[in-house]
Amino acid sequence: MKIPSLKIGQAVADQPIIQGGMAVSVSTSELAVAVAEEGGIGVIGGTGLSMEALRLQMREARAATKGLLGLNIMVAAREFKEAVLVSLKEKVDVVIAGAGFSRDVFTICKEWKTPVITMVSSAKVALLAERLGASAVVVEGCDAGGHLGTEAKTYDLLPAICEAVSIPVIAAGGFATGRDIGQLLELGAAGVQLGTRFLLSDECTVHKNFKDLLINAKASDLVRIISPVGLPANAIRTPLVEKHLAGDKSIRPKSCDGCLKKCGHEFCILEALRRARDGDYERGLFFTGKRFADINAVEPVKKIFADLLQETRTYLERVLEKEGSTPAAAG
Ligand SMILES: Cc1cc2nc3c(=O)[nH]c(=O)nc-3n(C[C@H](O)[C@H](O)[C@H](O)COP(=O)(O)O)c2cc1C
Repeated sequence: MKIPSLKIGQAVADQPIIQGGMAVSVSTSELAVAVAEEGGIGVIGGTGLSMEALRLQMREARAATKGLLGLNIMVAAREFKEAVLVSLKEKVDVVIAGAGFSRDVFTICKEWKTPVITMVSSAKVALLAERLGASAVVVEGCDAGGHLGTEAKTYDLLPAICEAVSIPVIAAGGFATGRDIGQLLELGAAGVQLGTRFLLSDECTVHKNFKDLLINAKASDLVRIISPVGLPANAIRTPLVEKHLAGDKSIRPKSCDGCLKKCGHEFCILEALRRARDGDYERGLFFTGKRFADINAVEPVKKIFADLLQETRTYLERVLEKEGSTPAAAG
């Protein structure tokens, strides 16, 4: 059976799978290219990168694949607009705006004829995004990795958002298998965005310690924090997180370059995310989606895609079979 493709504006992904953008330098060009080559949308996490570093990542990725590439950028980042422009100039196919809501991005991307996807967690914001010109929305619930905009689960948010808008709705947060993808497509999602599953891939360039930490952690090691950005987030309980939860002032940054429009300065979040990327267990902040405990191996993106698609097909075929057999069984 053919799994439906994912159409976002003029961009068509053969497979309805987006690899979620992950900062800082968690989803880099290597991962994005591998995903794009499999027919999904490979996304570079732009937050926390210098504009020069972002330009290089985008250029490298564009040269390596004709598949679909995206930029993910936090609206809360001070250089949000610059990052969008840098990526557009390097021929990015879609722009995904997360952790906040920006009207400017629609104006800029319209000029460049590039679709915008907005991360949302309510029907109201999804509708607003559609009215302003979003080509799709990602609805992300509370089981996701990264910053969260809601305490609700994706499954609870999805029906109302699918009902409210006519643009494609992509589901994200706490999904790891093709069975999840099949179920979400059945419920009206046009695609699924996965973060943690792709973090645990060979092509994700984070330090081995990050991957090992997630592979070996138990579900009970997950903790919800309020990050210095002022939003909740799921992270692994590590020494930095313990100190943050205890209100320890010694972790406050000694200096600050004002990278975020708004920051509580409890600790430097970009620094902590960079340290996680570099495998620093003591001082890193290790974001993860809630389903990390169900992912038992670090695998090549090719294998992850093959498994996800096979599981999705199996699920959807079973649903079709059941639907087909119901009248016969009844008769
Ligand atoms: C380490 C990490 C960093 C992330 N960074 C970002 C980010 O910079 N911007 C963003 O919109 N989402 C970010 N996310 C969220 C992902 O893009 C994706 O939506 C989310 O991980 C989906 O949930 P899952 O991990 O359960 O699949 C991050 C997730 C992780 C695990």
